[in-house]
Amino acid sequence: MDLQQVIHRRRMVRNFDGRPVEPEVVDRILGNAIRAPSAGFSQGWGFLVLDRPDDLARFWASTTPPGGGTDAWSVGMRRAPLIVVALSSKDAYLDRYAEADKGWTDRDEARWPVPYWHIDTGMAVLLMLLTVTDEGLGGCFFGIPPERLEPFRAEFDVPAAYTPIGAVAIGHPAPDRRSPSLRRGRRPVDDVVHRGKWRG
Ligand SMILES: Cc1cc2nc3c(=O)[nH]c(=O)nc-3n(C[C@H](O)[C@H](O)[C@H](O)COP(=O)(O)O)c2cc1C
Repeated sequence: MDLQQVIHRRRMVRNFDGRPVEPEVVDRILGNAIRAPSAGFSQGWGFLVLDRPDDLARFWASTTPPGGGTDAWSVGMRRAPLIVVALSSKDAYLDRYAEADKGWTDRDEARWPVPYWHIDTGMAVLLMLLTVTDEGLGGCFFGIPPERLEPFRAEFDVPAAYTPIGAVAIGHPAPDRRSPSLRRGRRPVDDVVHRGKWRG
């Protein structure tokens, strides 16, 4: 597939046929993730890879409220044979930018226009999603509900310095229901692009 095809074909897939993802494909997905750009080449990301049935079960149990997980979304997503949780480390950026070539030794967060640690990890997630599409697989990025973050951290012994920005469910696609959000329609280029000045 060429890049244009990959970009156009990528969409969030929320149901899977249960077949495993081949180990070399998992390696390619992760190998491409770490090609993402990062501020100061900080690379303050981490990826928790879950592909054993008991680990996947622990993921869903820790991120779902008791009695939950029976809705159509959950049923489809729980068929994914692979979940990669993407985590970002703010400390990695504060440490990196306190180095001599950057010189922000005060580690003041106000220096950051936006949290680059989350941005860079999000860029890595997009590279994973594009690789998934290129492999003919399907994937869906989704958030872990705030009230489930502590149970998730405890279950997988995640260090306090790492913040889960979300998870990617990956597998061989099965028929699914597209997100109702898509009814909003894609905003046209002219709506979102401002040439030369914002207004007028
Ligand atoms: C930051 C972010 C969070 C998202 N969270 C969820 C989610 O929790 N559950 C879900 O099913 N899809 C989630 N999505 C997928 C969006 O619904 C989807 O990208 C959007 O509707 C456009 O559809 P497409 O990606 O298939 O083109 C998320 C996407 C992003 C970028």
